Amino acid sequence: MAKFLVQKSGPLHGEVTISGSKNAVLPILAATLLTREECKIMDVPALRDVDVMCQLLESLGAEVETDLEDHTVNVKASGELHWEAPYELVKMMRASILVIGAILLREGRAVIHLPGGCAIGERPIELHLKGLKALGATINEEQLSAGIVDARADHLVGSDIYLDFPSVGATEVIIMAASLAEGTTILENAAQEPEIVDLANFLNKMGARIKGAGTDTIKIEGVKEFRGVSHHVIPDRIEAGTFMVAAAITGGRVLIRNMVPNHLKAVIAKLRECGVEITMEEEGILVCADNRKIVSTDIKTLPYPGFPTDMQSPFMALLTIARGPSVVIETVFENRFMHVGEFNRMGANIKTDGKAAIIPGGKQLQGAQVVATDLRAGAAVVLAGLVAEGTTEVSQIHHIDRGYENYTEKLRSLGANIMRIDD
Ligand code: EPZ
Repeated sequence: MAKFLVQKSGPLHGEVTISGSKNAVLPILAATLLTREECKIMDVPALRDVDVMCQLLESLGAEVETDLEDHTVNVKASGELHWEAPYELVKMMRASILVIGAILLREGRAVIHLPGGCAIGERPIELHLKGLKALGATINEEQLSAGIVDARADHLVGSDIYLDFPSVGATEVIIMAASLAEGTTILENAAQEPEIVDLANFLNKMGARIKGAGTDTIKIEGVKEFRGVSHHVIPDRIEAGTFMVAAAITGGRVLIRNMVPNHLKAVIAKLRECGVEITMEEEGILVCADNRKIVSTDIKTLPYPGFPTDMQSPFMALLTIARGPSVVIETVFENRFMHVGEFNRMGANIKTDGKAAIIPGGKQLQGAQVVATDLRAGAAVVLAGLVAEGTTEVSQIHHIDRGYENYTEKLRSLGANIMRIDD
């Protein structure tokens, strides 16, 4: 299996350009099925998950042209769609569920075999289904107990929907389904992530009438049909945050190009609490940690605009070397501390108790053989490897390929000692 070899690296210096957002492009690609006209999506990151989503769109009957050299994907779903998403693709990427609204609207039926849980949690979708039922879909309960979503709807009608938890995926599924339903939908306690705003902007360009994306209440007035449009995907705020931590943990100075500071306010605030200097420059965000002692801080992950759960493991890498103890509380996923065992193999001596992890800090980490337990945790153990004595060998790196475009090349361009060994 492919792996990364990471050696202790000096302070990272230089500049890095952030790719398009994985978690924005996946729902937007799914939304291209809502029109029979061609859509051109730009600034698409070259990631495994994007490739799987494109395969899924093709398997459903869409024409998909990808040119990842210039980061564009053209989708045209002009004909009839298959209404069954193949399990072998869905099991590779849980975000496949995002196509359910479009298939239901066009074909009156959608069948999606659900993947089981994953490393970070059970990942249920009862809120997605609650929304679809509120819009008039019927779900075959017997099939559901066998892990198969079999939804039918002659047509969808707008409704008031309350989300018990501001689920990102449920918000996206409901927005897409409601955008072509009859009448108006009010979605309460919606997710407010920037990726929701980007999806709503894309849909509104297509002709949707969505207001309030980015707040906890979204109003969707259903329209008859959409036109094909082109769209630039927003930058990946989690990739940007990961590289900000890379600069901080190595005591370096890195300019982060193509990121939206507003999308990472909580992470920027926490890095500043740790003593990292962050300034907004004309050409990007300058992260400066040279000759600075990193001090500890506490983190609690929350739905946006709180501290993002996807930044929890990369930030924890920084806290293992920060001066003083830290407490990290993970409130979004029920099992997102798998990386703690990997950091402890490197000498971090972290203790966990339920939702809390206690990081003593002040460690000189030692290189070790570690595993990427999910895509963010994989990126995080690489960051720890940059400051650990000796060599850190990271396996299961296919997880990292899902969410980070050219991760090793970007790190090497900043002076990191990392190489990829393909089997
Ligand atoms: C999206 O996942 C992201 N993925 C995740 O990023 C991210 O961690 C997550 O949002 C939270 O920000 C994509 O956008 C493709 P949720 P999603 O529904 O939509 C519970 C990464 O690293 N929940 O907001 O699946 C759920 O179990 C990935 O890029 C229910 O209980 O997240 C979880 O504990 C990892 N019932 C919490 O809500 C439901 O019906 C957040 O889930 C739905 C969700």
